[in-house]
Amino acid sequence: MSTHAIIGCGRVAPNHVDGFRALDDYELSWACDRDAVAAKQFAADHGIARWTSSVDDVLGDADVTSVSIAVDHAQHARLAERALRAGKHVLVEKPLCLAVSDAERLAELAASGDRVLSAVSQHRYDPVVLAVREWLDDGLLGRLLFVRTSLEASREPEYYTGSYWRGTRAGEGGSALINQGYHCLDVTRLLCGDLAVRAAIANTTALAGTIETEDTLVALLAAGVTPVTLQVTVGSTTQWRTRIELVGDRGTVSLDIDHPGAVHRATGNAELERRAEALRDREVEPPPPGIGYYGVSHRRQIADFAAAVRHRTPMAVPAGVGVGMVRLLAELYAAT
Ligand SMILES: NC(=O)c1ccc[n+]([C@@H]2O[C@H](COP(=O)([O-])OP(=O)(O)OC[C@H]3O[C@@H](n4cnc5c(N)ncnc54)[C@H](O)[C@@H]3O)[C@@H](O)[C@H]2O)c1
Repeated sequence: MSTHAIIGCGRVAPNHVDGFRALDDYELSWACDRDAVAAKQFAADHGIARWTSSVDDVLGDADVTSVSIAVDHAQHARLAERALRAGKHVLVEKPLCLAVSDAERLAELAASGDRVLSAVSQHRYDPVVLAVREWLDDGLLGRLLFVRTSLEASREPEYYTGSYWRGTRAGEGGSALINQGYHCLDVTRLLCGDLAVRAAIANTTALAGTIETEDTLVALLAAGVTPVTLQVTVGSTTQWRTRIELVGDRGTVSLDIDHPGAVHRATGNAELERRAEALRDREVEPPPPGIGYYGVSHRRQIADFAAAVRHRTPMAVPAGVGVGMVRLLAELYAAT
């Protein structure tokens, strides 16, 4: 039996409980939050035996095999490094960290210590995303002419004013892009390959006076010769809506990574249309309790992480995926 501890008992932590609870060879041993009241409450709510407000208790426990790090972005690097140096395998929430140099150091540290390090990219495991990846590989879209990827979300001022880190440069490192927009950019990288930044504009309009980071960012990128446009905002009136549209010379696909992910349009050839129809008929897993649009794929990534810890099987999201995202985010912000 392996044991896992959760560091940071906030909004996303229940998805980590849900994922590790779904495994029969893993148990949850600690709920850790620097806010002792939150740690105690989280442990009680989720039936976790021990709680603590000190990361030292978790990292000093030789029985702990692995940890989730689910705190503000600014602390990811320091806590992940401490956990790796303590010999733990690490699943860190996105983004892996803020600075490229930290991301590279963490990946090296994990590799040299033979530890598993993965940054959460749950939508890379979504059935819809994996199906579209396969259609691209099978040539059903032909050569990509252009790609559009976007997130329209709404965040009330209280979401930021009630948080010790959101909307601050020091704690979040950005907002609409690095936090909410992360997922559509990450999935676009999976579908299209490495992205080069050509231009970017960031604005703070809807949340001016509330946040010091951007509420809206638009960029032009290139995947090889294919132009990719990215639009993300947290200032709209729509709670959460992603769209990724891939237009090729054999077919066009429009999908989202909301829950449950959907293919809205697949057109251009009979085989593409047949496969899209089959995908629409699939059974859809209900989301775990909590925030529905995070989806169900934390479970899949956690199962992949646990297998890697046990058997050193390669993960679909190795440390390099997280490092690549930190590099791309840094380039995008530098271009604004
Ligand atoms: N993958 C996803 O879909 C998804 C969704 C939401 C959040 N996230 C990510 O998860 C992370 C956390 O986000 P959240 O919304 O849960 O934040 P949150 O503010 O709700 O929770 C963070 C918690 O960490 C605790 N904390 C801070 N520093 C600590 C420390 N040194 N030791 C122990 N506990 C500490 C805080 O007290 C707080 O309870 C972020 O990286 C965010 O981007 C990912």
